[in-house]
Amino acid sequence: MCGIVAYVGKKNCQNLLIEGIKRLEYRGYDSAGLATIHNGKIRIVRAVGRVANLEDKLESMGGLPGTVGLVHTRWATHGGVTEFNAHPHADDKVGIAVVHNGIIENYATIKTLLEEKGHKFSSQTDTEVLAMLIGELYEGDLESAVQAALREVTGAYAIAVICEKEPGVLVVARKGSPLMVGVGNGEYIVASDGAAIISHTSQAMMLDDYNVVKITADGFRTSTIHNVPVTHKVQQLELELDEIELGSFQHYMRKEIFEQPKALRNTFRGRFNAEEGKVILGGLADHAKELVKAKRIALLGQGTALHAAMIGRYLFEDLAKIPATSEFASEFRYRNPIIEENTVAIAVSQSGETADTLAALHEAKDRGALALGVINVVGSTMARETDAGVYLRVGPEIGVASTKAFVGQVAVLTMIAMWFGRRRFMGANDTGSLLHQLNQIPDKIEKILGYDDLVKKVTERYIERENWLFLGRGYNYPTAMEGALKLKEISYIHAEGMPAAEMKHGPIALINEGMPAVFIANQGKQYEKVMSNIQEVRARGGHVIAVATEGDTAIKRYAEDVLYIPDVPECLSPLLAVVPLQMMAYHAAVLRGHDVDKPRNLAKSVTVE
Ligand code: F6R
Repeated sequence: MCGIVAYVGKKNCQNLLIEGIKRLEYRGYDSAGLATIHNGKIRIVRAVGRVANLEDKLESMGGLPGTVGLVHTRWATHGGVTEFNAHPHADDKVGIAVVHNGIIENYATIKTLLEEKGHKFSSQTDTEVLAMLIGELYEGDLESAVQAALREVTGAYAIAVICEKEPGVLVVARKGSPLMVGVGNGEYIVASDGAAIISHTSQAMMLDDYNVVKITADGFRTSTIHNVPVTHKVQQLELELDEIELGSFQHYMRKEIFEQPKALRNTFRGRFNAEEGKVILGGLADHAKELVKAKRIALLGQGTALHAAMIGRYLFEDLAKIPATSEFASEFRYRNPIIEENTVAIAVSQSGETADTLAALHEAKDRGALALGVINVVGSTMARETDAGVYLRVGPEIGVASTKAFVGQVAVLTMIAMWFGRRRFMGANDTGSLLHQLNQIPDKIEKILGYDDLVKKVTERYIERENWLFLGRGYNYPTAMEGALKLKEISYIHAEGMPAAEMKHGPIALINEGMPAVFIANQGKQYEKVMSNIQEVRARGGHVIAVATEGDTAIKRYAEDVLYIPDVPECLSPLLAVVPLQMMAYHAAVLRGHDVDKPRNLAKSVTVE
């Protein structure tokens, strides 16, 4: 949700900024803009569309020289996708340029005050208001002006600011949106994500909320918006360059689908003690005594992470026998939730930055819950604001459609549920055999990935259809929801996922001749019931694509197409059943000619509520 890169150092920075912002394009890609200071003047170039358009524009005008600069890729919040609304935004008094990720909630009030003082605005954005405010408060020191302006605003921001009157200075700040300062040799690269920094330095400083950093080529000073000095540790970025490169894959989504076995092996590494049937989760150790007393689990997430949380609910009830709920973090946050004593809230998130989930986490903590994180991005806001947690360790996820993070989330939730279960009533044999099965999941996913051509052929058969249903029961009802979400978000085909039983309560009216209905029909407690639902669809002319357990040849009588997954205990089946659905969505998007990694209107990390 908007990406920022900024530089101060000794070299011309345009290419470095462009290279960096391309790595952050997953955060938003409706427009982009770059500014540098050269000979005491700020020059700004902006373009609608991808960073490539900005690059073309820069090339056609001979580029922007300068050793201080900033660049931005936008996911529109205030104002349409136009060049005027693209960042950087400038003030009309001092010569200031600002890039911003987040939302200034009181921008309208501030704008009115600034208009009364004679400022003229050329965009509809909240960011331009911030640029004007900094300019208005400028009294010869950019750092103080930024601090003063940020004391006036409410909302979320990660910003980078430059000023013509202080050409060697870059000021950056954050509250609620991520920002880090990469520390190089005589140069500093500020970015929303380490991916834009790692090819230059692996040393970085993570900013906390309300931090303001004044940076020159010779060093930096960190303070709060109230100018209280802050000391920060420069730390090693846990990121390898090859993890963020596409390699031989055509799209990040495909790379990440195929990376799932490796990713899960990493998730599991060092965390199983099969002999004692124990899951070793260092991130829970400090709170083990409180956790074992848990009487209720509240799982929170959005989108794909919510689907993982929904599976988590089944896992906690089945394996740990703890009452559990899962819900949209955005709804939990605003519905006056009741948090009883010994409630554990679990925030499930790939990015660790999702505003809805973060707000729900704060709410749960304020009401006395112990907060756990099931998060991928190390050091993210949620990771820092939870009391304890377990990282996914699936590596950076760049494709906007979440795939490997989903299986990582489900796997980690399985391990946490087993961690609880083993401390309550599960014996070493129960957990031991489940751990053994869990450990084999990566190999089984590898086998499913081998059916890629078949999945493509099946998808091709239905590619003209505009409406699809995804149906499952029990553990695989959330998997069905996830299959539908994957299909709609990248192929723009309308898809609905729901419990298979729910279909006859209304949605069955949608079924017409040839409508594809994807059933997750693996062997399990409700297999027979799913078979009945399949018959109901067929009786109305729908075409059934079944995800079924290997060896189930009988299902071929009822389904037009069958995609097999290996046999596993039912509680582990979502980890396999989701894979063909991810592959189907991928092929559908490619067959329809869409940009798989940058679906329209979306951004990877949703940092607004
Ligand atoms: C869908 C997708 C989104 C995210 C959701 C939460 O493919 O990626 O639905 O799952 O925005 O994001 P995180 O997991 O970063 O909190």
